[in-house]
Amino acid sequence: MFYMYSFKKNVSYFLIFLFVAIYSAQGFLLSVLYADERDRQFWDRRYNTEEYIYSKEPVEFLKEHVDILPKGKALDIAMGEGRNAVFLAKNGFEVDGCDISEVAVRKARKLAEEHDVKIHAFVADLEIYELPENTYDVIVCFYYLQRSLVPQIKKALKPGGVVVYETYTVENLECGYKGPKNRNYLLEPNELLDLFSDLNIVFYREIVLDNKKAIASLIARK
Ligand SMILES: C[S@@+](CC[C@H](N)C(=O)[O-])C[C@H]1O[C@@H](n2cnc3c(N)ncnc32)[C@H](O)[C@@H]1O
Repeated sequence: MFYMYSFKKNVSYFLIFLFVAIYSAQGFLLSVLYADERDRQFWDRRYNTEEYIYSKEPVEFLKEHVDILPKGKALDIAMGEGRNAVFLAKNGFEVDGCDISEVAVRKARKLAEEHDVKIHAFVADLEIYELPENTYDVIVCFYYLQRSLVPQIKKALKPGGVVVYETYTVENLECGYKGPKNRNYLLEPNELLDLFSDLNIVFYREIVLDNKKAIASLIARK
């Protein structure tokens, strides 16, 4: 009789444990899925205007260094409204560009049409999408920081391929400049350099530009 009671009690505990485990796992999964959906909606809302919120002009750092990039196939990671992707296409690159925001991708295609160039612009959530290996001569990433992408960027470059990266540092937050408020999206001192230290570093700087933004910029060759 006692054994029967104890067995039933253990089964009850096990069922309660199982229920809590399944419930927690489901909660975790939903929060991850919804986080991506929240990002997408956030960026779609930001881009949902006629105006190009990051302008139609490429990032100065890209403009200054485009001539030293190996010609061929380029990828613009989190390309936004396409200012850098279109600039690369105008400079003779065959360009892929992706972003989580469908609105941004549409605007990037429109910008390419305005400039009479072709880009392959597609919607992709970079938290899920896997970059194709050994494919690109150039990969650019501006003002988007996802540390888990770095190993993929290295694999996606062809031998001799070049990565161009520029984004905000923690100094941007400390100085109270416009930009991300979440430290996870900001580079620590020397972090960008360390992330690509196994490639050949062609150029690196950490700089405050025009008293407006604190950034790190890097060019590295595989
Ligand atoms: C500050 S904007 C920079 C856009 C562009 N690189 C530029 O310099 O104009 C950051 C971009 O990251 C994109 N983004 C955010 N999370 C993403 C994700 N998980 N996958 C792909 N793109 C994402 C946003 O839609 C946005 O276009």
